[in-house]
Amino acid sequence: MPPTPAPSPPTFLYGTAWKEERTSALVELALQAGFRGIDTANQRRHYFEGGVGQALAAAYRAGVVTRADLFLQTKFTYRPGQDHRLPYDPDAELTTQVAQSMASSLEHLGTDHVDSYVLHGPASGYGWTDYDVEVWTAMLAEQRAGRTRFLGVSNVSPLHLRQLAATGAVLPAFVQNRCFARRGWDRDVRAFCHDHSIVYQGFSLLTANIAHLRTPAFARIVSRVGRTPAQVVFRFALQVGMQPLTGTTDPAHMREDLGMYDFELSAEDVRLLEGIAGA
Ligand SMILES: NC(=O)c1ccc[n+]([C@@H]2O[C@H](COP(=O)([O-])OP(=O)(O)OC[C@H]3O[C@@H](n4cnc5c(N)ncnc54)[C@H](OP(=O)(O)O)[C@@H]3O)[C@@H](O)[C@H]2O)c1
Repeated sequence: MPPTPAPSPPTFLYGTAWKEERTSALVELALQAGFRGIDTANQRRHYFEGGVGQALAAAYRAGVVTRADLFLQTKFTYRPGQDHRLPYDPDAELTTQVAQSMASSLEHLGTDHVDSYVLHGPASGYGWTDYDVEVWTAMLAEQRAGRTRFLGVSNVSPLHLRQLAATGAVLPAFVQNRCFARRGWDRDVRAFCHDHSIVYQGFSLLTANIAHLRTPAFARIVSRVGRTPAQVVFRFALQVGMQPLTGTTDPAHMREDLGMYDFELSAEDVRLLEGIAGA
């Protein structure tokens, strides 16, 4: 069977974390399978952004995709989230660090702009600090300079988002969070996103919810729709308005995950899945 092409603009992202020296080969496989949205970060500790760039160059050469077909997303990561392999001068001002990290990302990815630039996580888990205000201002400058089309934030709470909004700054186009079924699939953050026309990107949809995906209630839905558990979860995410991420390292799972475009869940099954954790 030919691979299922992802619709454009992509509603499903291929995540590149934790792949180390396999990054390039796996990203190439993901592009061949049909993924058109790629999520990475200039954080060598967990991502090999240069490997993503190698895969893109190989895919362009082979005629698999062009740059215009793709949605490329990368991230700025504060010093505490990094190891010694830094994409910026740690002694420089945050504004300079953002500019240096972006320049390094563009070099890694072999492009003059990314589609989305994400703050990997706020400086504090407890609110939007002055550090975040400075970084967000610098990220907006990157956007105005044309080096990114959109901006995003990741690992945020409703409080972070409310405090960011209270600064009067332009809000992100994307919020990327770990999505726990036990928190109503991040209900409060998704509600904020819905109210402010922000696209919610969900990661760890499978790994953060293992217990709930082993319940009889979930098994009944899977057997009713005749799809795999992963397809049901990603399809559910799509139907409630999320942009899900998968970082599978298995080409068969890549194809399986893209199979979520070939079916639909009933409104009743979506309702049951929303409440699968009783949250
Ligand atoms: N913003 C952040 O702070 C942050 C944090 C974490 C992740 N992310 C992003 O999200 C991406 C995805 O990460 P994730 O946490 O969701 O986990 P993931 O890397 O997608 O891992 C999924 C796990 O489930 C397994 N699996 C089994 N069947 C699968 C199937 N059909 N489809 C997919 N996986 C299947 C995978 O094994 P196989 O490999 O064998 O399929 C893998 O062990 C990352 O690569 C990264 O881009 C962002």
